[in-house]
Amino acid sequence: MILHGIVVGMSGTPAYRVAPGADISDDATIGDGSSVWHLAQVREGAELGEDCIVGRGAYIGSGVRMGRGCKVQNHALVYEPAVLADGVFVGPAAVFTNDHFPRAVNPDLSPKSASDWEPVGVTCETGASIGARAVCVAPVTIGAWAMVAAGATVVKDVPPHALVAGVPARRIAWVGRAGSPLVEAADGTDAWVCPSTGEWYIPDETSGGLQLASSPLADAPRPAALHDPDEQDGIPA
Ligand SMILES: CC(C)(COP(=O)(O)OP(=O)(O)OC[C@H]1O[C@@H](n2cnc3c(N)ncnc32)[C@H](O)[C@@H]1OP(=O)(O)O)[C@@H](O)C(=O)NCCC(=O)NCCS
Repeated sequence: MILHGIVVGMSGTPAYRVAPGADISDDATIGDGSSVWHLAQVREGAELGEDCIVGRGAYIGSGVRMGRGCKVQNHALVYEPAVLADGVFVGPAAVFTNDHFPRAVNPDLSPKSASDWEPVGVTCETGASIGARAVCVAPVTIGAWAMVAAGATVVKDVPPHALVAGVPARRIAWVGRAGSPLVEAADGTDAWVCPSTGEWYIPDETSGGLQLASSPLADAPRPAALHDPDEQDGIPA
């Protein structure tokens, strides 16, 4: 097990931070600039990209893959074989299931082993956000920049940029990359506009969601860093 502290990379510079009580498998890969907070568990074979945050008490299952800049909030449970692309947000106490028809035992009451069931996973595409205490019932895909409301139960794929809420989750709006609900374009087309960024989105027939059409931010300078590695949720460590 990796002990808490700052884990130093090959170059001798700090690579990632592990808080006391975190349990990271020796066989997990943690990207530079990441933080794993108190009592979180990262299982064998899990792969976290650079600049990820795993909050207090969160669980990252065996072989789960997370891209760069993902944030898994306190007590979220990300069961394998979940796959998170870059910039995915998983809210506090959210659950990603992995067994569609769960049973603890076989019909003869013998314990189920790994070969007695087929794990299924939740896939989150780039920039997707999952609200607090939401449940994503695998197999399911949350499309790019989609948003799942707090407390929702997702049982069907969510198209890119959809905002879904409720049990079962249904689309209540479209959201842009900044997270704001989109408004219909005033030009009479089927385009949508983000009131906070001015970005335009158009329907994407392939995914059933929206796709970015134009962005006034395209040439804007990027922030220097996704987060301050000394902070968790904006609170200094
Ligand atoms: C879904 C969400 C983004 C909607 O925010 P909003 O656009 O300000 O929505 P409003 O409050 O105007 O509500 C719009 C409608 O959706 C409903 N609604 C809002 N949040 C909902 C939720 N979590 N579940 C079910 N319905 C919800 C409202 O009741 C309202 O319904 P109505 O039109 O029939 O009255 C927000 O409520 C939410 O759940 N955000 C996630 C917060 C979170 O989990 N953060 C994690 C970090 S702590």
